[in-house]
Amino acid sequence: MDKIIVEGGRSLEGEVKISGAKNAALPILISSLLTDGWNTYTNVPDLRDIQSTKDLLLHLGARIETDKDTVQIDAGGVGNHEAPYDLVRKMRASILVLGPLVARLKKARVSLPGGCAIGARPINLHLKGLARLGASIELKHGYVEATADRLKGEEIYMDISTVTGTENLMMAAVLAKGTTVLSNAACEPEVVTLADVLIRMGAKIKGAGTSVITIEGVSNLKPVSVKIIPDRIEAGTFMVSAALTKGNVTILDCEPDHLEAVIHKLRLSGAEVSVKDKSIQVKGANEIVSVDIKTLPYPGFPTDMQAQFMVLMSIASGFSMISETIFENRFIHVSELKRMGADIKISGNTAMITGVPMLSGAPVMASDLRASASLILAGLAAKGTTEISRVYHLDRGYEEIERKFSQLGAAIRRVKA
Ligand code: EPZ
Repeated sequence: MDKIIVEGGRSLEGEVKISGAKNAALPILISSLLTDGWNTYTNVPDLRDIQSTKDLLLHLGARIETDKDTVQIDAGGVGNHEAPYDLVRKMRASILVLGPLVARLKKARVSLPGGCAIGARPINLHLKGLARLGASIELKHGYVEATADRLKGEEIYMDISTVTGTENLMMAAVLAKGTTVLSNAACEPEVVTLADVLIRMGAKIKGAGTSVITIEGVSNLKPVSVKIIPDRIEAGTFMVSAALTKGNVTILDCEPDHLEAVIHKLRLSGAEVSVKDKSIQVKGANEIVSVDIKTLPYPGFPTDMQAQFMVLMSIASGFSMISETIFENRFIHVSELKRMGADIKISGNTAMITGVPMLSGAPVMASDLRASASLILAGLAAKGTTEISRVYHLDRGYEEIERKFSQLGAAIRRVKA
């Protein structure tokens, strides 16, 4: 397994271009299942999760052409309704094929995704919503088997504003008979951009970005050409790296509107953050101020930025508290940061951080996608060398991260296994 080696102590300077958003691209590529004919997607990031999604769509019978960051998908020949365990286990977001397959083929057999390092990741709300739309749902031998002659629009209240749950049900409802109302829907930008794509395909959707989304079913949808939005979490990760190393970094091709909570908290921590139309400049302060954060559904502070912000707080001047309200086990990075000298205590879903003057480099292990990014950040700020193992977690969600950090002056390299 590859490792990443980081020599700490350098201030990052320069410009970095943000790639397309993984969590926007996944549902959008899968929405191709709802159409016949060639869909064209540009600014698609080159990531393991994207490759997993393409493998699954090919398995279902789609045709796919890829040229650099452009992916073309024709799902006209899709006839296989089964998403097998060996594909779904590689990426739990594969469950997003459930809604489109039932809508398009009237049946689906999808392996249960199972949990991951950060939590049990249940899909009960996906299944409850699909049942409300008239699908018959059975759980057999680790698979979900869903069938419906034609889904019927219904009012659905989601107990939790689940992001992929909202996306799955939206994609199921666009071809249903009648109107569906999703209440307590997720408001994340990735939900909004999926709705925009579906509308361009001919769907009738109102309210995306609010907690009530209304979908009026149509009889068919047509293929589209779409550019994937920038990855707000990648952008936030680089913003923190500038604050952490007391550097001066300009993030290009990003969407500042998607980063209000992160911008707000970085400014409170003392960083100078200048926002332009599609770029953000972050200048780190000599003294990092301790700031409390609580992860919340959008537009609250994103859980996917919690580990990265914790690294910043670990070398801040005082005491801060980080509450993780979205996932039940998203503090795995804490034990690795403590091995680098961080002073962090955990009580329930809250981490209490007392800032220390400096972290020290050490061999550490990545556990999940965003935690592995936080270990790179810790290595950048630490004195000495940090060696990060199990970086395959990183490759799922960050495109060419070493190249991008090297361009900013970081001493970072990948050692092939
Ligand atoms: C999406 O996951 C993202 N993944 C996650 O990013 C992100 O952390 C998360 O949203 C929260 O923003 C993709 O978009 C592919 P949820 P998702 O359903 O949809 C509970 C990354 O690093 N829940 O919004 O799976 C669930 O257990 C990943 O890129 C149920 O109880 O998250 C969690 O506590 C990590 N039942 C909460 O809701 C359900 O049926 C929010 O989960 C569904 C969810």
